[in-house]
Formats: sequence, structure tokens, C-alpha cells
Amino acid sequence: MRKILFLKTILITAGFALLLPLQARAQLAQPPHWQFDVPFVPTPYVVIEEMLRLANVTPQDFVMDLGSGDGRVLITAAKKFGARGIGVDLDGELVAESIEAAAAAGVGERVKFLQQDLFKTDISQATVITMYLLPGVMMRLRPLLLNLKPGTRLVSHDFRLDDWNPDATTQIRKNAFLWIVPAKVAGKWDMKFTLPGADSSASAHSITLELRQKFQEVDGFARFDGRHAQVWGSRLSGDRLSFVIVDDRDRDHEASLYFEGRVSGDVIEGSFRRGTGNTQTVHGWRAVRAAP
Ligand SMILES: C[S@@+](CC[C@H](N)C(=O)[O-])C[C@H]1O[C@@H](n2cnc3c(N)ncnc32)[C@H](O)[C@@H]1O
Repeated sequence: MRKILFLKTILITAGFALLLPLQARAQLAQPPHWQFDVPFVPTPYVVIEEMLRLANVTPQDFVMDLGSGDGRVLITAAKKFGARGIGVDLDGELVAESIEAAAAAGVGERVKFLQQDLFKTDISQATVITMYLLPGVMMRLRPLLLNLKPGTRLVSHDFRLDDWNPDATTQIRKNAFLWIVPAKVAGKWDMKFTLPGADSSASAHSITLELRQKFQEVDGFARFDGRHAQVWGSRLSGDRLSFVIVDDRDRDHEASLYFEGRVSGDVIEGSFRRGTGNTQTVHGWRAVRAAP
């Protein structure tokens, strides 16, 4: 009787052991090859480190690798930069391999791999997106990337986003590009602020800004108390906008106004410096979008 029970146990265990690979294979069902937008070609490790360095990845980041292959980008992000994240790939076998590799690297808790189409993936939670995709695929993704939260960093191995110029590039071994998703600032903005006058009494002023925008490149003009003024040296990085307007109301006491602000929807708030050196004064400003 004991022998029979023992044999039964062995048979059941063996049965499960045989079933397991079948189950795993069922989970790993491969989609037809035509569904793949890009073939699997792994990024060399030194290039991955360059990409993550370029994006300034920290433990506060949530990295998403779109088309994660064997998981090496995310595993490196977790292991060397302390980040968390998700990788998606259509290839179930690569996803299974990634899950195993993450566990072996001791970062199984920090990174997840899903068998999923990158175009059907919610990417809104990413603070950093990594890609090694083809130019046509990048262009299909571009509108989705542009709609991410301003400040989200995008890094790509080898391929660019057409006429959206990168914010930074590295060329160590391979080309890698960084873009910082810009806030939407095009349109007309009204701002009011006070400045000390020649007799130190505060006087109210207004500036109307008209900004044009091509991705992170911004230019435009302004009206300072109704008079035409040029907008100089504008820079947009994520939600941070800076520019200079010359206060030339009094030709004998001209000064540059160095504006810095943070864009949040239809409001920009920050401070500006008037002048330089020991004549410099600092003031607050707030602009509200008047028209798109
Ligand atoms: C060039 S490899 C990059 C792998 C990895 N990111 C790296 O840099 O080492 C591109 C990956 O995208 C996957 N892929 C292709 N089309 C996809 C899609 N529509 N959705 C998700 N993954 C896809 C492929 O299976 C492949 O593993």
C-alpha cells in the first residue's frame, strides 16, 4: 500500500513537471511575425549605460522600455541606477527570459515585463522612456510621446524623432538621443507685475507675450506696457521656461529682465531678475494664457 501511494505521488509530481513546460509554452504563445514592428537586436551594455546616464536616471524614476527584448535595459536601470519600471515586448519567449534574468539579477521586485503591444501600452506613468525602435515606429509613437507629462525624458538608441531635435546626444560607441517632453507654451499670455520706479515706489506693469513653439524651440515677441519688445534667448526644458525682455522704457536706465518660470497648464509662475551684478533686483511674475 505504501509503495502504491509513493508511486502515485511520483506519477502526479512527474505529471505536473511535464505539464509545467506546456503551460509556460501556452503563456508564451508567439504572435505572427507580421505583428512585430521591429526585430530583436539587443543594445550593447555600454550604450545602455550611456542612455541611462544621458537621461539622468535615479532611484526616483519609473522607466519604461518599449520593445524590451531580453530585458537588459530595465535590468541595468534597476541594478545600476536603482530605478523601477516596466518593459513590454510582443515576444513571449523574450518576456519570459527577461523575468528570469531580472530575478537572477536580484531586481525582480523592481521591474516587470509584460507580453504586450507597445502601441497598446499605457505609458503615462513613465518618467523615462527607452527605445530601440525603427524611425517609422518612432514617428507613429511621436504624438503619444509629445502628450506625456512635460519633463518626461525619452532616450533612443540609434534613431531620431525626425524634425524634433534632441535635447542632448551621446556618441559613445553608438548614437543615443535624449528628448525632454516640452510643455505646451504656444499662444498668447498676459502677465502683470510690479517694479520699483526711479523713486523706489512700486509701479504696476503688464507684458503680453506671444510665443511660437516647435517642440522645445520657442520664440516670439512681447508688448511691454503696450510697446513692442523682443523676446530674447528663450529656452524651454520640460515645464521650465526662461527668456529675456529688455526694459528700455527709460533709455538711460535700460536693464534686461531675466524671466524664469514653471508652466502648469494655462499658468506660468516664477521670478525674474532685473539687471545684473549689485544693481540686480528680483521680482515675482505670473502669466495666464489668454489665447492658444
Ligand atoms: C531592437 S529590439 C530592442 C530590445 C531592447 N530594448 C534593447 O534595446 O536591447 C526591439 C524589440 O521590440 C519588440 N517589438 C517589436 N514590435 C513590437 C510591438 N509592437 N510591441 C512590443 N514590442 C515589439 C521586438 O520583439 C524586439 O524585442
